[in-house]
Amino acid sequence: MWEYTDKVLDLFYNPKNQGTLEDTGEAGVKIATGEVGSIACGDALRLHLKIEVEQDKILDARFQTFGCTSAIASSEALVELVKGLTLDDALKVTNKQIADYLGGLPEAKMHCSVMGQEALEAAIYNYRGIEVDTHEDDDEGALICSCFGITENKIRRVILENQLTTAEDVTNYVKAGGGCGSCLATIDDIIESVQKEATTAKTVNNTSNSINATGESAAPRPLTNVQKIALIQKVLDEEVRPVLIADGGDVELYDVDGDIIKVILQGACGSCSSSTATLKIAIEARLRERVSPNIVVESVGSPVRK
Ligand code: FES
Repeated sequence: MWEYTDKVLDLFYNPKNQGTLEDTGEAGVKIATGEVGSIACGDALRLHLKIEVEQDKILDARFQTFGCTSAIASSEALVELVKGLTLDDALKVTNKQIADYLGGLPEAKMHCSVMGQEALEAAIYNYRGIEVDTHEDDDEGALICSCFGITENKIRRVILENQLTTAEDVTNYVKAGGGCGSCLATIDDIIESVQKEATTAKTVNNTSNSINATGESAAPRPLTNVQKIALIQKVLDEEVRPVLIADGGDVELYDVDGDIIKVILQGACGSCSSSTATLKIAIEARLRERVSPNIVVESVGSPVRK
């Protein structure tokens, strides 16, 4: 028997946002739909968003969920969290926020919160005309768990966002490893690699933040603009460009204005609007993870230089 919080039980017994939203032809409003999971796998969630086009804002949302108590409650929490948000702000909602809204979920049910976040992304990317299957790098990269079709990038992301430390945690969050178990050793290796990268990044930050101009210890402070640009360039050079170049594309850092990062996509990356948007978002996700959570990446085409 699972231990659920009062909030989970309340939302499960008294859901207020179940159902669909239809396009009624209302001026300035559009309906977007995102769907994840499958009934055959035990959980499926279809999310409908009513979007105010001018302001790119979510006016209302509804869900249709096939699943357990925590899947229904997570869907309710998701809808309550995203109502009133702009689409960009909604994309920042994490599965952890969904679980926190519920006062927590049993570890083995955390995948329900992940499903909610994925349905939200699917709806927004559908609305923006971006291929959901390639809306970010989750579906690219090495397939680690063939039982559940989970890639390395998806596992890395969930480890980072939720500070997971064991393969069992990963199974609870994205189901990987919960079938035949043959991928569990690889999941352990990925956890180790993510932890090593996080330690290295922390050491670099601490080194740059802990010594002030007189060589004395100082409280941690934000990156200077110069440090930020250097870090962005480093992430692009070491983590983004090699992947793009292998696919016949490339990216160049054009300008940095606060948290707005302007890039020029080249080769195959700049050839169609859909791939451009997808790449922009993939680059943005990586820079948010490695440099600052507030970063927004803009593609500026190929400006003429004098
Ligand atoms: S391959 Fe991951 S559980 Fe079977």
